[in-house]
Amino acid sequence: MTRKLSLTVLAALLGATAMGSAQAYDADWKRGRVYYRQVCTSCHMAQVSKQFGPNEKTKADWAAYLTADKHNKGKDSVKQYYSKAYRASIKATNKAAEKFAEVADQELMDDVKAFMIRSAKDGDAPASCS
Ligand code: HEC
Repeated sequence: MTRKLSLTVLAALLGATAMGSAQAYDADWKRGRVYYRQVCTSCHMAQVSKQFGPNEKTKADWAAYLTADKHNKGKDSVKQYYSKAYRASIKATNKAAEKFAEVADQELMDDVKAFMIRSAKDGDAPASCS
């Protein structure tokens, strides 16, 4: 009886933790891939003709890169490019920005991160941007 009760309590606690935590969002690497290719890579190709494919770095490199949030050789922030404001500013000419115009910034960040980690040099499915 006591044992059964504690298991029930434990299950309830675990459920509450999962629901309450920010990690509860189940990142969608496919959406991240679309966003990375159409928003991030299209600017890279237009401005510097470089892809910065996920397979150019390891999982650990990507995690560190995104946490540091130093983009464009440290000149600006990578976070700004996930923002609703940025999507709104380019959506007239960018389909992915238009399609994901209303997605929460954090979700889109998690999606792109999931794509990078999955496609990293040492990830489950290494991939470039094309
Ligand atoms: C408005 C244009 C633009 C957009 C949008 C953009 N970038 Fe960049 N990015 C650049 C430029 C410019 C560089 C520097 C290129 C070089 O090394 O000469 C760069 C460099 C990078 C690099 C190489 C390392 C570094 O920071 O120098 C990575 C990785 C990167 N961008 C990731 C992203 C991601 C992820 C997104 C989308 C969420 C993104 N970028 C969106 C312009 C852009």
